[in-house]
Amino acid sequence: MHNDLREWIEKAERIGKLVRISGAHWEKEMAALAELFCNKKRLETPALLFDEIPGYKKGHRVLFHELIAPWAIALAMDFSPEYESLIDLVRTVHRKIEGLSPVPVKIVDSGPLMENIHQGKDVNLLEFPVPLFSEFDGGRYIGTSDCVIMKDPDGGWVNLGTYRMQLHDEQSAGLYISPGKHGRLIRQKYFERGLPCPVAVCLGHDPLISLFAGNEVPYGIGEYELVGAVRGKPVEVIEGPETGLPIPAYADIVIEGFCFPGDNRAEGPFPEWTGYFGSSSRAEPVMRVKAVMHRNDPILTARHEIRNKSFDFRSLMRSALLWKELETAGIPEIKGVWRYEQAGTRYFNVISIKQRYYGHARQVLHVAAQTAAGAYAGRWVVVVDDDIDPANIDEVLWAMGTRCQPAMDIEFINRSRSTPLDPLCFDKEKNYYTSLALVDACIPFEEKENFPRATGATPEYIQDVYKKWRALF
Ligand SMILES: Cc1cc2nc3c(=O)[nH]c(=O)nc-3n(C[C@H](O)[C@H](O)[C@H](O)COP(=O)(O)O)c2cc1C
Repeated sequence: MHNDLREWIEKAERIGKLVRISGAHWEKEMAALAELFCNKKRLETPALLFDEIPGYKKGHRVLFHELIAPWAIALAMDFSPEYESLIDLVRTVHRKIEGLSPVPVKIVDSGPLMENIHQGKDVNLLEFPVPLFSEFDGGRYIGTSDCVIMKDPDGGWVNLGTYRMQLHDEQSAGLYISPGKHGRLIRQKYFERGLPCPVAVCLGHDPLISLFAGNEVPYGIGEYELVGAVRGKPVEVIEGPETGLPIPAYADIVIEGFCFPGDNRAEGPFPEWTGYFGSSSRAEPVMRVKAVMHRNDPILTARHEIRNKSFDFRSLMRSALLWKELETAGIPEIKGVWRYEQAGTRYFNVISIKQRYYGHARQVLHVAAQTAAGAYAGRWVVVVDDDIDPANIDEVLWAMGTRCQPAMDIEFINRSRSTPLDPLCFDKEKNYYTSLALVDACIPFEEKENFPRATGATPEYIQDVYKKWRALF
């Protein structure tokens, strides 16, 4: 398995999934190219490695979209990029993470990250070709595919999260964290005690780290340990010279510093996962950067939120995480979970089950709606029988159309968890609630035996015929 971003890039290049681009501008052009590649290549979109960016040293590079398509997740988690359907992919990821035993980090004295260290007045964030995504953004964004490292002042556990960071100037950046996110809860604890909050941010790192940092791992569980578990060996970390926080020794770029209570500055707007500009400009905490460490010829990772995308790694991870949480809650016979990328990987979630008892379907709906992975900005949860592929919207709509009596089979939860980024959240200063629809599109349990037979060959027979005649397809 790869050990860092550079080894991952080599693997991507070997399978023809890395495009090197020289001369594109940091001001909108890199982002527009990333958008074009997504629109034209869809599920086969490659990662883009930009170099010779106008105004910047050759070798100071930006990697866009290291987690843009299924092949990239397979590479990051080290499984075969071949798959039959999206739900097969979720199954693979679910199997990878379901029984993970956390592997603690290993502290080392040095690593390639320490090839260049700038502290104090030598800190200059503008040495990196930080992209401007569009003319409507609040500014250039240095952290879009980042990994923000913070330590809980009480429990001592270390949280990783991907949170956007707007470049303010050479030595400071805005750090936007939505309410209730673990990084925000940790930061609040420091602020409530009148203390500065130590922060380290990886700005170029192994995509495997982003798989966990950018998705809802339950509170109190350290993402580093899960990365180590998938790798089968500990993440090697150095202790940050300014904060003492554990920092991946093989990262490409890391900045370190502090957020101080009351030290806020206008941040945003930024094009968000919802497909809209998530919020207008608002005062958000500033990170004062005290140290920058980077490898020679550093690579900054970046992500552009493309609307109408055909795939999003968060769908895959969030589906697998929700699946794991449903099983951890003791619910049997979960057969598949899919969280639709077209609905921001959060708003529209479908779970398939083999119904075993009265109330099974409703139990799944209510629990799924309020798990760590499912509660944030969920709007629709649909439960279907196991003959329906939850990642196939045609089948899901068929089930909703033919098995669900709306007056009886849709329930609502009000004042559920949302975010100021939600376009339906009109008061951006407070009231981040959403309502949630729970849609039972399963055949009523008591009618299972009498329900009309679905047309078409049996799934077993169709599989046999497919295997025999596969070459035709
Ligand atoms: C590319 C990307 C960008 C993200 N940007 C933000 C952000 O700016 N603010 C935020 O609160 N969450 C953002 N998220 C979502 C969080 O990373 C995600 O909810 C994660 O679970 C947060 O970690 P936590 O659960 O430890 O708080 C982003 C996720 C990804 C993958």
